[in-house]
Amino acid sequence: MTKSAYYLSALTALAATFVLLVNWQVHAETNRVQFPNLDELVHYTTVRRGNVTEHIMTTPAAIEAVRNGRPIPAGTQFVLVDYRDDMKLYRYFVMEKGEGWGADYGESRRTADWQFQWFWPDKSINMDENTARCQSCHSSQKSSDFLFTGYRIPRFNGTPVD
Ligand code: HEC
Repeated sequence: MTKSAYYLSALTALAATFVLLVNWQVHAETNRVQFPNLDELVHYTTVRRGNVTEHIMTTPAAIEAVRNGRPIPAGTQFVLVDYRDDMKLYRYFVMEKGEGWGADYGESRRTADWQFQWFWPDKSINMDENTARCQSCHSSQKSSDFLFTGYRIPRFNGTPVD
């Protein structure tokens, strides 16, 4: 092989690898978020929009922390259970906070130590979703620890806040 042919094939291989990597980043999206143990979570608010009903829940420890103005502890999960048309379970959205988990992402994508995941009713991950989209939208709530409905927690007294 001539020198230039060698460089050309090396370059082609590099380009192919790059395309593969970019594709992989857009699709496969497993991360540290685990499917929650729903029995341990407290349903504190419901959001209704058209045919969609969302039950939003978190741990008793997180509810306690928010009420007392303390930071939400590592190990916390927030779950949005999404029901459609006559309360048929459609999907689960999960946010989970873990010590140092933010380091898994570059600074522009990072949502402190929260990671996000989308699970189907059979608990499998939606591999077509890039959870960077979740992070991007929830970044607007940075001043409320990336939560949209956390402000409802202080009003929760045992009955989910509407
Ligand atoms: C375009 C903006 C947007 C995107 C994208 C988005 N969310 Fe949210 N999320 C919201 C809003 C707004 C709420 C409050 C509930 C509502 O209004 O439906 C919410 C609520 C939640 C909650 C309940 C805790 C909270 O913040 O109140 C979880 C958990 C959640 N989202 C996870 C996810 C996951 C996982 C993804 C990606 C698969 C995602 N979100 C993508 C806007 C977004």
